[in-house]
Amino acid sequence: MDGRSLPLLRTPVPGPRSRSFVDRLARAECPAITARRARRAAALGVADTDPIVWESALGANVQDVDGNVYIDLTAGFGVAAAGHRDPDVVAALHAQADTLLHAMGDAFPDPRRIELLERLQQLTGMDRAILGSSGSDAVEAALKTARVATGRDGVLAFDRGYHGLPYGVLVASDYKADAFRGPFAGQLGPHVHHADFGGALPDVDWLATHDIGAVLVEPIQGRGGVRVPPPEWLASLRARCDQAGALLIFDEIYTGFGRTGRWFAFQDVGVKPDLLCVGKGMAGGFPISACLGTARAMDAWGASKGEALHTQTFLGNPLGCAMALASIGSIERQLPEVLDKGEWLRERLHGLGLPVRGRGLLLGIELPDGPDALATSGALLQRGFIVLPSGEARPGDDPRRAVVLCLTPPLCITVDQLAAFVDALADVRASA
Ligand SMILES: Cc1ncc(COP(=O)(O)O)c(C=O)c1O
Repeated sequence: MDGRSLPLLRTPVPGPRSRSFVDRLARAECPAITARRARRAAALGVADTDPIVWESALGANVQDVDGNVYIDLTAGFGVAAAGHRDPDVVAALHAQADTLLHAMGDAFPDPRRIELLERLQQLTGMDRAILGSSGSDAVEAALKTARVATGRDGVLAFDRGYHGLPYGVLVASDYKADAFRGPFAGQLGPHVHHADFGGALPDVDWLATHDIGAVLVEPIQGRGGVRVPPPEWLASLRARCDQAGALLIFDEIYTGFGRTGRWFAFQDVGVKPDLLCVGKGMAGGFPISACLGTARAMDAWGASKGEALHTQTFLGNPLGCAMALASIGSIERQLPEVLDKGEWLRERLHGLGLPVRGRGLLLGIELPDGPDALATSGALLQRGFIVLPSGEARPGDDPRRAVVLCLTPPLCITVDQLAAFVDALADVRASA
């Protein structure tokens, strides 16, 4: 496996060692976390869908504990944007580990944190940032910043948006709301309202009546099914926020760091938010995120009076900052090819008669006939390709359009690997 390898399967998928690990996992982990065989197998119409257990990864390849080699079309939820175990990221991790593993968050910074904040300023054109550990942290920091800056409690978010599952963001996430929000509804505040993503926007009076200080949106919805809003919709949203005095927050945790062919999707549509949330691919595997903002928004917090009003134990962890700096450097080298690879793949998929939506290497493949996205992802895994469905069918939806095969491969994936995927997809559909 050299990162550019094609799949090589040595055992059935999942193999015996994966199964045995997953049996142990099931005895030790909350059952709601990892999907196991009986439940999903029936849905997929395959014999056994226990997960494969990952042993190692490199570039666009993953190897499981049975020695099977896969092509990862997910980049591990978009995290390995620079490629799994990118050599520069690994070298930065080792070098940092030799000097400082942990500094002291808001109390005592270290040089890597300062260098990363400056690099993020340069990439985004934003003035200030708050670092966090997860994507949800970044969105929570943005929501708090908007509250501080506007003095308003109300938040407008959008149908099928996904912003994470901790309480502060769960109320804004709408993807699979019955399952994710339902059991906790009694503990969620009433301050978040949802409008149609890509649809008619509430008018200024409505925003004022509902005390809206923050409008939270993904420029392209990721988990919600790779949904791209109509052209000009984000610009209209910007204008509406300006009229209403609300802050516009772009959640670019999925779309950021080169995924759509630019550093950030907002640069593609030419609409600048007040606050920008990034995470996932930022450090290639270290849990680190950032909420960036304009000076106007961020400086509303005022200077620290000795006790940081928003912080975490691990804020700006030096390992994460060093890895992020290296990951950004690697993505910078790979970025010029992202749009071409995306276009190449899109054309090949059109050649199979499949509609594709998205931009760059964030693509959603509609499957108008044959096995649906869930069954197709199961069958692709059996052929050595890791790919996930995304989206949710709601009453009245065409489920074939709502739920797509979602592709977010490492940006370093090769055209040969993409071609092998297209062949495998064609094979799955022909054998159904
Ligand atoms: C757009 C978006 N926002 C926020 C999150 C939450 O990030 P995390 O799971 O790192 O908390 C995700 C995760 O998939 C996401 O896709």
